[in-house]
Amino acid sequence: MSFVYKSDPVRGRQWAEIFAREAPALAFRIWPDIGDPAQVRFLAAWEPPARLGELFPNLQVLFSSGAGVDQFDFAALPPGLPVVRMVEPGIIGGMVEYVSWAVLALHRDMLQYRRQQAQAQWKAAPVRPAGHCRVGVLGLGSLGRAALAQLRSFGFDCAGWSRSRHQVDGVQCFAGADELPAFLARTQILVCLLPLTDETRGFLDVALFAQLPRGAGLVQVGRGPQLVQADLLAALAQGWIADAVLDVTDPEPLPPDHPFWQHPNIWLTPHIASMTQPDTAARVVLDNLRRFEAGEEMVGRVDRARGY
Ligand code: GLV
Repeated sequence: MSFVYKSDPVRGRQWAEIFAREAPALAFRIWPDIGDPAQVRFLAAWEPPARLGELFPNLQVLFSSGAGVDQFDFAALPPGLPVVRMVEPGIIGGMVEYVSWAVLALHRDMLQYRRQQAQAQWKAAPVRPAGHCRVGVLGLGSLGRAALAQLRSFGFDCAGWSRSRHQVDGVQCFAGADELPAFLARTQILVCLLPLTDETRGFLDVALFAQLPRGAGLVQVGRGPQLVQADLLAALAQGWIADAVLDVTDPEPLPPDHPFWQHPNIWLTPHIASMTQPDTAARVVLDNLRRFEAGEEMVGRVDRARGY
């Protein structure tokens, strides 16, 4: 019986050490050294190989090596194959750091100070307490909830929106299309942590931006195709959005002449908001294998119809 890892091989070797220690009976193999394909029961991959079902006829679980599963073509996967996304403390911690940094940067006018520095300008804006700033997070999965807990600790006035109803301590929760306008109307800094699905493709568009209070900030840490790029440029030009921090784009990287690169009101980072951490991730996957063998629900199990 074997477990195949098909992602960054350097990190794969760290997984291998943990598996060797904690699950010595399970052969751990790093792609392309897959051994006997009929022995492969589990696969952790960023992008699964083509014709997965034919290649690994006895595959029992597919793990995404990242938080997202939008890179999987569900139609090409064996129909009943359980798919699990990465919910692990390392990736959550990284996202909490990035979202905190970005929200604090917007709240404390850091993009403005970057522009001023480029002009050798020394000019102070008033410092407003976090409690006067209303932050809203789109997406209340494990990443969104953890980010909100940290934002709350700074004192921000926090709300969250998700498709289905959630309850998060100290956070005003909005649900569904009906409650989206009220959520947007109160949100001065909007953080997108939605998964990419057919419903969220193009979600961040001019109609949405126009419902935010004028001069809002945007933090995009979801997926590139959720943002309508021309609409962001228009919203920035009109001042609906004052500044934006973008960690994901479409495509990645953007072409060299793309207007986002040089835009004074956009701070771009190269999809580094968070990354799976091998030591914590391997342990979460091992725990999920134990759950799978015991017939228990795996953490991060994807609803394939829903897409996340
Ligand atoms: C990164 O974007 C991931 O899905 O882990």
